[in-house]
Amino acid sequence: MKNFSFYNPVKIIFGKDTIKDIAAEIPAKSKVLVVYGGGSIKKNGVYDQVTKALSSFEWHEFSGIEPNPHYETCMKAVALIKDKKIDFILAVGGGSVVDATKFIVAAACFEDGDPWKILSEGRAIKKALPYGTVLTLSATGSEMNDGAVITRAETQDKLAFSNPLVYPKFSVLDPEVTFSLPPKQIANGIVDSFVHVIEQYLVYSEEDTLMQDLWAESLLKLLTIEGPKALRNPDDYNVRANLMWASSWALNGWVGRGVDQDWATHMIGHEITAFYGLDHAVTLSIVLPGLMTVLKDQKAKKIVRLGKKVFGIEGASDNEIIDRTVKAVEGFFEGLGVKTRLSDYGLGGDAIEVIRKRLNERGWKLGECHNITGDVAAEILDLRR
Ligand code: NZQ
Ligand code: ZN
Repeated sequence: MKNFSFYNPVKIIFGKDTIKDIAAEIPAKSKVLVVYGGGSIKKNGVYDQVTKALSSFEWHEFSGIEPNPHYETCMKAVALIKDKKIDFILAVGGGSVVDATKFIVAAACFEDGDPWKILSEGRAIKKALPYGTVLTLSATGSEMNDGAVITRAETQDKLAFSNPLVYPKFSVLDPEVTFSLPPKQIANGIVDSFVHVIEQYLVYSEEDTLMQDLWAESLLKLLTIEGPKALRNPDDYNVRANLMWASSWALNGWVGRGVDQDWATHMIGHEITAFYGLDHAVTLSIVLPGLMTVLKDQKAKKIVRLGKKVFGIEGASDNEIIDRTVKAVEGFFEGLGVKTRLSDYGLGGDAIEVIRKRLNERGWKLGECHNITGDVAAEILDLRR
């Protein structure tokens, strides 16, 4: 196990009817800005619960954060914060709203020119406004981590940053608010959580990280058991509760401490979204089976372990187990209704070349062994036509 430090200061408030508890978490006399997306919270009663809980505060609102949130939109929120002298933000929505809020709270305090540099140049953040979240879609883990992914529409860049200053002060996780998710978003959330664990587990490693491996396998197993149930019985509270808590743990730092990490599936996926607008989880479901195939020698030990421990594949040679495990992962995604081929989304060779060029231009060498260049990404995508 590698040396590591672990720090996660996010207070989680979990369960039914917990949105009202935000009032006790926000410092008295704060001027609050409620940040949300395209309006789902007005249809499912979350907006009403939030505004009721905020009745003793002066509060304002900023809506219109889009999926794969745009830098351009975030900067409008920053202007409003400065204008109204806001001192606490409440993010109400899915990963996009939470990610946007992370960038907004950093950008509002950034004094080193254009805040885009936080993403494009990795410029340091020295300060950020405090914020909390009311999560409405379990998928990204953003409610319990310090990372965010922001898109600049103008240049089709989708870039990530992370900084301990942008951990939420608290996150409210009421599984009941996820009942209103359409099946597509339920499935996306399950795929995203699954791939978050995979990025921190399915690696070449000489390290002995049994504790992290067993945690990771529990999360992956849970997602394969509860995921299909959530689609079959969308009103099952316990299933939603398991998925919501698992998705936070999939990316709150815990399973990845002291282990090598991959993240190439995400980085290639971000480019597909940046150029072609596919949902984040959809891009992951396309890339991962291809990546597992191209890197099967490097990752052999862990792919075999994944096959045996999570998908119950036994009694064959390692090579057969690897092939069957790749198929099992693809079948799991397809079984959730998420199509896993580029052609399912009208994409082919042209898109592969665009992504090859972008990654080669960036000079990125992705993955735990730093060997996935634009050319290797193109090889991966070629298998996913
Ligand atoms: O905008 P509204 O109207 O709220 O509708 C949203 C949106 O259209 C809707 N929705 C959310 N909660 C709902 C609901 N509809 C009905 N009922 C509810 N309870 O769902 C749609 C998708 O929402 P979005 O927030 O975009 O989805 P998700 O949570 O999957 O977030 C995706 C974003 O997170 C980033 C992705 O790249 C992407 O931009 N990620 C962030 C990470 C992080 N910060 O750690 C890690 C992830 O790997 C991921 O990259
Ligand atoms: Zn993700």
